[in-house]
Amino acid sequence: MPKLTIDGKEYEVPAGTSVIKACHENGIDIPHYCYHPGLSPEGNCRLCLVEIEKMPKLAPSCTTVAGEGMIVRTNTDKVKKARADVMEFLLVDHPIDCPICDQVGECKLQDYYMEHDRRPSHVPLEQKILKPKRVQFSDKVIYDAERCILCTRCVRFCREVPGTNELGMFNRGAVSLIGLNEGRQLANDYSMNVVDVCPVGALTSASFRFQKRVYFLKTTPSVCNGCSRGCNINLDWDNEKLFRYRPRPNLEVNDYWMCDAGRLSCASQQAEGRLLRPKARMAGELKQQPWGRILDRVAEALRSAGDGKLAVLLSARATTEENYAWRSLIQSRFPKAFVAFTPADFYAEGKGDDILITADKSPNQAAGDALGLRSGSSLEQIVQAMESGQIATLVVLDDDYASSRNPNNRLADRFRAALAKVAEVVAVTPHESETTRLASVIVPKAAFTETTGTFINVDRRVQRIARSVPPPGEALEGLDIVSRLAHLLGTETASGNAAATFARMTASDAAFRGLTWEGLGEQGALLAS
Ligand code: SF4
Ligand code: SF4
Ligand code: FES
Repeated sequence: MPKLTIDGKEYEVPAGTSVIKACHENGIDIPHYCYHPGLSPEGNCRLCLVEIEKMPKLAPSCTTVAGEGMIVRTNTDKVKKARADVMEFLLVDHPIDCPICDQVGECKLQDYYMEHDRRPSHVPLEQKILKPKRVQFSDKVIYDAERCILCTRCVRFCREVPGTNELGMFNRGAVSLIGLNEGRQLANDYSMNVVDVCPVGALTSASFRFQKRVYFLKTTPSVCNGCSRGCNINLDWDNEKLFRYRPRPNLEVNDYWMCDAGRLSCASQQAEGRLLRPKARMAGELKQQPWGRILDRVAEALRSAGDGKLAVLLSARATTEENYAWRSLIQSRFPKAFVAFTPADFYAEGKGDDILITADKSPNQAAGDALGLRSGSSLEQIVQAMESGQIATLVVLDDDYASSRNPNNRLADRFRAALAKVAEVVAVTPHESETTRLASVIVPKAAFTETTGTFINVDRRVQRIARSVPPPGEALEGLDIVSRLAHLLGTETASGNAAATFARMTASDAAFRGLTWEGLGEQGALLAS
């Protein structure tokens, strides 16, 4: 572990650490463009230059490894002048696009100009070299060569992360630009990460550009629900509208990245098909009802079915806390009811890859094991009981068992037919589905972006999700719904608060022992083995 001195203070860092990383990890900011902690260093932009004693010239801190006894200075006059010169050089041909550029608010060219340069350009506008603008790298990513500072982060991303190598640098000198290698499309499953790694407005997302000035956005840390990897993400939103997902670094889960499918699923959260108001079937027709009446009806349906005629289908799409609260309610009031969890392969699709994407497209399958929900009934047993007329009340969370569009839903036809034999079918879910169309009571639930709780990923990491925008219409968070029902049924087994429910879970369930809500933080924690 070499010890080095940075700006007069001694630090010890692991062998092989670059000087820029040593600085960043100790709270010392070094401006940089080409360096990205998730990519190999290239040392092409020269913005990260520092003074190192006994070195004749300023050294790029991103390609210099910290050595024993090294003395580094990051803020001398020489360093400041070098930074200003690099900025001036990078801005020589840069267009005056700021008023129309999507990157404003998160542009490192603007930020570093203000911090390290602040001088007017010496190059008249008409002498700037013009380059291609609005180049479509794909239907997801647009390139503007005039804004590009040729840091090659995007090239290295494609080469090093998906390994697809679609991008390269073309031409020389002032007319250099980034382009697609011959015969290639930017078509890998992770392609939109190039927009995140681009430090300027050269690469923009086709789906987000011109939608919102980023400085108006609020950010809520959460977890993607697109597959069981549970990539950490930021939800960017304003004024009750979600605008985009961005990857949030977690070296234990997704490094700095997320897949395009997960990122683009943002649009579906607030699309058509959301259930907005509680409804109940009366004389065969679904009618809107106030929450009080709906919950009374559901409570009465649970009570009157009692132990032997009640079935509850818990879900790998719901939070751990919501599943736990339902399990607690049923265990305390109806211990002999049928309870099943989403079958393990219900959301299986393809093979996944060896980067992030997993075959299981649900975010919380692991909760079924952690909460012991697989040891009860199976979906098939419940369908059999429905077919035999044994079930009077069925509660279904999230999963669309009536739809045959999912090839893994082998019981779809039987489930659909058997619903006709159940007196009360209660669907608790955010979205319309075949099951909600056949239900007798519709309970509109918040989507995961509107919910606080946890998901447990494929590696058994418990990770917090958090409410960003409020649910649309009259929808409520799932945990709120089950705790109101518990109250009506005279038990206090469920709390509407995710942190309090998590605390109960850690006390009652061995898999959660030793965890705390606060301890999960923003990076999550593994279940007890
Ligand atoms: S497009 Fe962006 S990431 Fe790629 S080289 Fe240009 S500035 Fe760097
Ligand atoms: S890999 Fe899975 S969890 Fe990660 S972004 Fe894609 S869909 Fe979401
Ligand atoms: S960040 Fe070090 S040379 Fe670019």
